[in-house]
Amino acid sequence: MVSKTHLIYFSPTKTTKKIVEQIAAGLNAPVSEHYDLTQMEQGLDMKLDDGLAIIGIPVYAGRTPEIVLRRIQKLSATGIPVVLVALYGNRAFEDALVELRDVVVSKGFTVVAAGAFIGEHSYSTSKQPIAVNRPDMADLQKAKEFGTIIAKELQKQSGKATPEIPGDVPYKERAPLGGISPETDRELCTLCAICAKVCPTFIITVNSDVITDAKNCIMCCACVKYCPEKARELKHPMVEGRREMLIKNCSERKDPVFFYEPSLQ
Ligand SMILES: Cc1cc2nc3c(=O)[nH]c(=O)nc-3n(C[C@H](O)[C@H](O)[C@H](O)COP(=O)(O)O)c2cc1C
Repeated sequence: MVSKTHLIYFSPTKTTKKIVEQIAAGLNAPVSEHYDLTQMEQGLDMKLDDGLAIIGIPVYAGRTPEIVLRRIQKLSATGIPVVLVALYGNRAFEDALVELRDVVVSKGFTVVAAGAFIGEHSYSTSKQPIAVNRPDMADLQKAKEFGTIIAKELQKQSGKATPEIPGDVPYKERAPLGGISPETDRELCTLCAICAKVCPTFIITVNSDVITDAKNCIMCCACVKYCPEKARELKHPMVEGRREMLIKNCSERKDPVFFYEPSLQ
């Protein structure tokens, strides 16, 4: 039995978090520690030497977001098993999982399983929905089952083998972020400052106005999705174009995929 799970995730709009939690539920470990990197400006400075870790990231332009890499820079482990989770918006996860694998292996984790799951796209809006309401009940059920499989297989010695994970090395070129951010409609805004609170990069200041420092925006859209007045909107032409492309080419439902050593299957 897995004695303890360390749930480590970056999840501005909480789809990654939901999947990580479901996998943990399937593992059924007695103790679950949460490390939510989303609000951890200084990152996670810790060495893990027991239990099992689940590390979850959203896919940004086919890669592991740079902000995650910065926030796990001081994280290390003494060979403990880790399950990797990439959450993507129904387009593709490309090199995100292999990149995450390489990073965590260099930190002393042993990758025992990995999964790619689908979550509502950060750019999704009510007018232009993309993977809306994912993960849904079927996704959550699959995540839980995945956790149960991992728990069973870890009891076998072979459960420590690193699985084949799809993706290219070298990874695809990183798309630069920054300079584009959601805007506030002051007619609707009540200055409640929830946008500032949920922003993982702390770039929104609310006083008598809402000021967004766009150069450090990662376009995660937490401020858009959690605004109770629907006063925040990401309407830059580049994003509008991206939404149209996603609706045209990526509307067909994709399903979660799991990777673990063939000897475990
Ligand atoms: C800058 C950026 C780039 C993204 N790139 C991709 C991508 O390459 N492929 C994809 O399918 N989804 C992509 N997405 C969508 C996110 O992976 C998806 O919305 C994810 O569920 C968000 O996770 P969270 O809810 O934990 O924040 C991107 C989102 C953002 C903000």
